[in-house]
Amino acid sequence: MKTIAILGAGTAGTALSQVAAENGHSVHLWGIETAVLEEIQGRRANSKYLPDIGLHERIKPCWTLVEALAGVEIVIVTVPTHAVRAVAGAAAPYLVGGPVVLNVAKGLEEGTDLRMSQVLAQELGTSAAAARIASMGGPALATEFVRGVPTAVIVASEPLAAAMAVQGVLQNEHFKVEATLDMVGVELGATLKNPYAIALGMCDGLGYGANTKSFIATLTLGEMEALITALGGQLRTVYGLAGLGDLLTTGYSPLSRNHTLGERLGSGGDWREFLQTHTVEGVAACRAGRDLARCHGIATPLLDTVHDVLFGGKPAAQMMRLFLKKFWYGS
Ligand SMILES: NC(=O)c1ccc[n+]([C@@H]2O[C@H](COP(=O)([O-])OP(=O)(O)OC[C@H]3O[C@@H](n4cnc5c(N)ncnc54)[C@H](O)[C@@H]3O)[C@@H](O)[C@H]2O)c1
Repeated sequence: MKTIAILGAGTAGTALSQVAAENGHSVHLWGIETAVLEEIQGRRANSKYLPDIGLHERIKPCWTLVEALAGVEIVIVTVPTHAVRAVAGAAAPYLVGGPVVLNVAKGLEEGTDLRMSQVLAQELGTSAAAARIASMGGPALATEFVRGVPTAVIVASEPLAAAMAVQGVLQNEHFKVEATLDMVGVELGATLKNPYAIALGMCDGLGYGANTKSFIATLTLGEMEALITALGGQLRTVYGLAGLGDLLTTGYSPLSRNHTLGERLGSGGDWREFLQTHTVEGVAACRAGRDLARCHGIATPLLDTVHDVLFGGKPAAQMMRLFLKKFWYGS
C-alpha cells in the first residue's frame, strides 16, 4: 500500500481521496480552507464540496504542504487550473524521492495557453520530474464516482510509467484507469470539451431538443478534432474517453457546472452569480481554445459563438440564431 498526497480538498480532490483510501492507500489531503479540513478531521465529512459522503479513516487532512508531501509516492493536484502553478511551485521544495505527479485540472493556463503538464514541468524543475508527470481526462463526475458509479478515466504520461503508477493506485472494480502516451490529446480534450458543454447547456436553456443537441455535439467533435490533431494530439483520443466521452458527460449532465452555466445563459438566468460561486473551467478554456484556433488558422464557429456570448455580452438566443443561420446557408 502506498502513501499519496492530494493537493486540493475540493470536490475532485476529496472524491479521489476516497477512491484511493478505499483501495487501501493512505491519503494526505491538503487544502487551504481550515473549516473544510477541520470537518474532515472531526466528522469525516466535507459537506461544502461533497455532501452526504462519509469519508474513509485513511484520509488524513493536512494543513501544511510539508506534512502532506512527507514520504509520498504519488501526488495528485486537484486545484482549479488557475491555481496549479502556484500550488506546484509551493510544493516543489518538498517533493523528495521523485514521486509521480498527476494533474487533474481541466484547462490551459490563462495568458500562456500552456497545458497543465507543461506548467507542472516548469514548476517542478528538472527533466527527470517531467518524466513523472501525468494528466487525467475522461468522463468522471466526482459526485458520481465517489458513490461507486462505474467510471472510466484516461491518464496520459510520456513515458507511460507514471500513468501506470496512477492506474495501480486508483483503479478498482468501479473505477477504470486507461493509460496513454497522448498527453496533448488528453489535456486538450479535457480542456476543450468544457466550452462546448456550455454550448450544449445553452441549447437546453433555449428550449432546443435532442435534434439540435445532437448536431451541435457532432459539430463540436469536428472542431475538437481539427484543433487537437493540429496541435499534435491523436484522433483516437478525440473520439475516446478524453474527448467524446467527457463531452457527453459534461454537455448532458445536470451535475456539470459547465452545462449549468450554459443553461443559465440560454434561459436568461443569473449566470454571473453562478460563476462567482462555482469553479467553471469552460469560461477560460473558451478564450484559450479560441486563441489556439486563431494561431493555427482553424475555423471554430461554434466555439466563437460561445466566446461572443461569454465575453462579448451578446445574448445566447441571438448568437445561436446567427450561428444556425450561417450553418444552414453558409456566409
Ligand atoms: N468536480 C469534478 O467532478 C471534477 C472531475 C475531474 C476533474 N475536475 C477538475 O478538477 C479541478 C478542480 O475541480 P473541483 O470540482 O474539485 O473544484 P472545487 O471548486 O470543488 O474545488 C477546488 C479546490 O481547490 C482549492 N483551491 C482553489 N484555489 C486554490 C489555491 N490558490 N491554492 C490552493 N487551493 C486552492 C479550493 O479551496 C477547493 O478545495 C478543475 O480543473 C476541474 O475541471 C473536476
